[in-house]
Amino acid sequence: MKFFIDTANLNEIREAHELGVLDGVTTNPTLMAKEGITGKNNILSHYKSVCDIVTGDVSAEVIATDFKEMVREGEELAEIDGKIVVKVPMTRDGIKAIKYFSDREIKTNCTLVFSAGQALLAAKAGASYVSPFIGRLDDVSTDGLALIEQMVLIYNNYGFETEILAASVRHVMHLVQCAELGADVVTCPLKVITGLLKHPLTDSGLEQFLADYRKGNAHGG
Ligand code: E4P
Repeated sequence: MKFFIDTANLNEIREAHELGVLDGVTTNPTLMAKEGITGKNNILSHYKSVCDIVTGDVSAEVIATDFKEMVREGEELAEIDGKIVVKVPMTRDGIKAIKYFSDREIKTNCTLVFSAGQALLAAKAGASYVSPFIGRLDDVSTDGLALIEQMVLIYNNYGFETEILAASVRHVMHLVQCAELGADVVTCPLKVITGLLKHPLTDSGLEQFLADYRKGNAHGG
């Protein structure tokens, strides 16, 4: 299973990378705005900075909503670095753009996916990744994890190479359940990745081991 971090914050990306378990990064216009990254040139150079930190794929989202502009923007993004994956929304023009990029071996991430039908269509168009937003489904009283389960079944039925990139992952149990269901990738905030470290029995067990070591070695014995 691949771990992507869902942020545009360079310090958090560095921290996850230094932990040694980071496979890539996803961003979106909201996350870029949160870091105060505005204006085309700043946005493009920020993507380059992200690519310089990580070794894996970096999703960069197009802002255009019509096919022609999506293609122009996506090609510009793809030129920044070989790690860039063009993130395209699940719309009619978005699907056409994904097919266009896929025919030219430019990697894509189809974003804002909320149903199995959308996920099937994106895979048919040749998306490299498809991002079901499980947390946002949960927010509207719909089972986000059930969508992951449907996607795993459908993609396996037909041997689609498209990777299921579970997005809008809000907490550790989301991540663990995505792993149980067979999602290829999860993207989540740093706190969800570091949350995997935590267990109170690990803390108390380590404390006890160290206390016993100190006792046994108190007099140089
Ligand atoms: C990732 O590609 C998505 O943009 C992101 O996971 C959305 O998460 P949110 O629902 O917490 O904003």
